Amino acid sequence: NDPRINTIQSIIRVVPDFPKPGIMFQDITTLLLDPKAFKDTIDLFVERYEGKNISVVAGIEARGFIFGPPIALAIGAKFVPLRKPRKLPGEVYKQEYDLEYGSDCLEMHVGAVQPGERALVVDDLIATGGTLCAAMNLLERAGAEVVECACVIEIPELKGRDRLNSKPLYVLVEYQ
Ligand code: PRP
Ligand code: MG
Repeated sequence: NDPRINTIQSIIRVVPDFPKPGIMFQDITTLLLDPKAFKDTIDLFVERYEGKNISVVAGIEARGFIFGPPIALAIGAKFVPLRKPRKLPGEVYKQEYDLEYGSDCLEMHVGAVQPGERALVVDDLIATGGTLCAAMNLLERAGAEVVECACVIEIPELKGRDRLNSKPLYVLVEYQ
């Protein structure tokens, strides 16, 4: 195992009962405060995806906007924001989904992605997998091929991976 991953895991703060009782919140803001660990996080993804002919990195609002753009720049891909409702001004694809706490919706601009483009979906964390499912759905409706989903953290207990219809998922850290 890459020693950088152990450091990254140790720096992510776990906050019990946030935003409500029973949720163990995985706080990646502590990772962002450590420039070496933040860079290592981006580098680990870049090492995996450079040279894989990926032309689109799609990041999920809000925390996917932190990790997606530096990966996109490093591998020479465009960045496409998948936004919460009513934020994008143009025509959008829209996908509703259930969340660990509540329900929500993601939107992507029509025309941001061309049919046949190879896409990577980036977020900070997979819990139930509903968010990543919605993201993949948006990209596939635009005709893109989702190569993989990439997250910093997975909560295996919630079995989000099983909801991804065997689409590859790469995570750095598992929270047990
Ligand atoms: C969190 C997290 C993931 C999502 C994972 O986002 O950042 O995007 O939940 O949950 P799931 O796998 O059960 O769908 P959230 O929408 O809570 O807020 P954010 O805007 O801070 O990213
Ligand atoms: Mg999120």
